[in-house]
Amino acid sequence: MKLENRVAIITGAGRGIGKAIAFRLAEEGAKIVASDIDLAYAEDVANRLKKKGRQALAVKADVTSGYEVAQVFKAAEKRFGGVDILVNSAGIRRDAPLHKMSEDDWDTVLATQARGSFNCARAVQKYMVRHNYGKIVNISSPVPASLGEREQTAYAAASAAVQGFTRALALELGPYGINVNCVAPEYIDTEMTRSVARKDGMYLDDFRKFATARVPLRRIGTPEDVANVVLFLVSDESSFVSGQVIYVRGGP
Ligand SMILES: NC(=O)c1ccc[n+]([C@@H]2O[C@H](COP(=O)([O-])OP(=O)(O)OC[C@H]3O[C@@H](n4cnc5c(N)ncnc54)[C@H](O)[C@@H]3O)[C@@H](O)[C@H]2O)c1
Repeated sequence: MKLENRVAIITGAGRGIGKAIAFRLAEEGAKIVASDIDLAYAEDVANRLKKKGRQALAVKADVTSGYEVAQVFKAAEKRFGGVDILVNSAGIRRDAPLHKMSEDDWDTVLATQARGSFNCARAVQKYMVRHNYGKIVNISSPVPASLGEREQTAYAAASAAVQGFTRALALELGPYGINVNCVAPEYIDTEMTRSVARKDGMYLDDFRKFATARVPLRRIGTPEDVANVVLFLVSDESSFVSGQVIYVRGGP
């Protein structure tokens, strides 16, 4: 067990990549605080983990609210004594061409990915600094490193913000024994990807064929592919890795 007695807060844990991360870290012994804006999703994950004999707690929080995020940390401290691991997986997409993108679309995407990661890191850092130990993993996307996609100005800006935030935070928290890294997945089969395909008027099978052809390893990724990389980054096997962006997209 790589994470025996570690406590992990995972945002966006109710679905998709965050959910797979919750299950993977729990398999390695971590006590899980599954947080999501949708409490029913988070409770389902926590209940399934408990049925497997793991320790888990569901907490509703919108990561864009510093107040709600602080309550997640308080709940983790009350139930499990603190927090060792934070994974920021909450995210949304609101793709649209610029002339159709509203200020609300722009702000909501930036607030969820970028302000959400900031709020959560700020909530846990005092505890982690005091204990001279912590692992923070932010989930971004490879869009800033590639030519990007059309209609993703907000999403690209949010992804770049999260990557820059990761590097700056790694410099700031490194002296306190805290590793901060970023995982940037693409073509992962989740509801987020499926809803984008539906919005673009594609059948799921056609979308999967289209995505598979673009991936050098010729398959689309699973949430578990991402969870395995996150596990490495929150385990002590990666204790000399910080400030990095790791791409999980079946190719460079
Ligand atoms: N699926 C992919 O191919 C892909 C690619 C690149 C990046 N990502 C990133 O990975 C992360 C997870 O994506 P996913 O595919 O699992 O998406 P998903 O839509 O399946 O799950 C996202 C989860 O985040 C929660 N959430 C949304 N807004 C929230 C908020 N304000 N506060 C708290 N929780 C909130 C949702 O309720 C949901 O449970 C996101 O940050 C996304 O941008 C995914």
